[in-house]
Amino acid sequence: MNVLIIGSGGREHAIAWKLKQSDRLDQLFIAPGNAGTAELGTNLPINVSDFQKIKETVLAQDIKLVLVGPEIPLVEGIHDFFLSDEELKKVHVIGPQKLAAQLEGSKEFAKEFMQRHAIPTAAYKSFTKDNVKEGFDFLESLKPPYVLKADGLAAGKGVVILPNLQEAKDELTDMLTNEKFGEASKTVVIEEFLDGIEMSCFILTDGKNYVSLPNAKDYKRIGEGDKGLNTGGMGAISPVPFADEEYLQKIEERVIKPTVLGLQKDNISYKGFIFFGLIKVNNEPMVIEYNCRMGDPETEVVIPRIKSDLLELLIATGNNDLENMSIEIDERSATTVMLVSGGYPEAYEKGKIINGIENTLDSIVFHAGTTKNNNGETLTNGGRVLAVTSYGNDYKEALKASYKSIKNINFDKMNYRKDIGFDL
Ligand code: AMP
Ligand code: GLY
Repeated sequence: MNVLIIGSGGREHAIAWKLKQSDRLDQLFIAPGNAGTAELGTNLPINVSDFQKIKETVLAQDIKLVLVGPEIPLVEGIHDFFLSDEELKKVHVIGPQKLAAQLEGSKEFAKEFMQRHAIPTAAYKSFTKDNVKEGFDFLESLKPPYVLKADGLAAGKGVVILPNLQEAKDELTDMLTNEKFGEASKTVVIEEFLDGIEMSCFILTDGKNYVSLPNAKDYKRIGEGDKGLNTGGMGAISPVPFADEEYLQKIEERVIKPTVLGLQKDNISYKGFIFFGLIKVNNEPMVIEYNCRMGDPETEVVIPRIKSDLLELLIATGNNDLENMSIEIDERSATTVMLVSGGYPEAYEKGKIINGIENTLDSIVFHAGTTKNNNGETLTNGGRVLAVTSYGNDYKEALKASYKSIKNINFDKMNYRKDIGFDL
């Protein structure tokens, strides 16, 4: 089977690496891909939102399965585009349709969904510019810190947590009346602050049945000790050591099953990954967010721990046949440490030559923001550049291997966190 992966990050490289190991795979295409995916398949210079170009490629290359990595094309309706096209409707698209993608695309939609299906989450209310005053009243009824979320997609920047009431009111005004995050903050969700440790769970579902993938924890802040600005993610580990059997059981019964059942009750079809962002409060899982795709860099530790053939699982998802599938997970731990460009997540330079990737035999180096020049050299091409993944008998051993490998890699102004896993 010919397969197309849409996206260009470490997540897409990890998925390409895994699909490449499948006997079911014929040709692999990645749009637009990066220097890492170019070694596993054919990169196509197509924007993830250019559905027409994607259609032309799918038909020209006889592609039968499309896996959508990032959220934007899903929220824009790429799956619906395929279903409504006579020539494309038989192609399997892994990633939900537009309505279901609202679980990530609209915080308000997600909160209403959780409320309707009694899925544990923080108390909340949502506001628009027509009821800012009620927003102030609601903020006054809460204890600090205050959590304000732009309803729509805001490239990971739409959640603001503030210690002080006046600051929170000013932020609400800024989001609603000044549209600080544009269209995305026309509606703002204000919610109760939850204090606890976070982790993420992932499933692959055909809308009715699902398989659970390994769980993971990511490290979002740029600075050591979880200080500084939020990033796309600076590292991840899997499995999460504090997630014991009892806690995982609670997640399954109180969060995962009611979510899949809730989608069915609401008549919302869903084929693809669901990412559950969870926080542990008094030993109970609460949902912080849903994502309608895999996480990045979580994928770089989750995928290497899947022993089963991922393409088989994706085909079964497309055929509504997950009921008959199981998934085998590697017992070992996996960790990844992200190498980023100096300055990231603020301004940074691109085009730096990367050396030493070939000298990392104890790790798997997944490319994120990389490209190749005409001389065949690998160059930095984004803020997050490489994800250095390793296995170990526990996360400490795996991390040791990742940090050892990193010593062999360099590019100008390379930066990374030296304390992944510090809080465990
Ligand atoms: P989100 O984009 O919804 O995942 O939020 C980004 C981050 O904000 C989360 O990973 C949490 O660390 C934090 N966060 C979101 N909602 C809450 C909440 N209700 N209480 C505490 N922290 C939160
Ligand atoms: N690492 C968090 C995300 O992918 O949204």
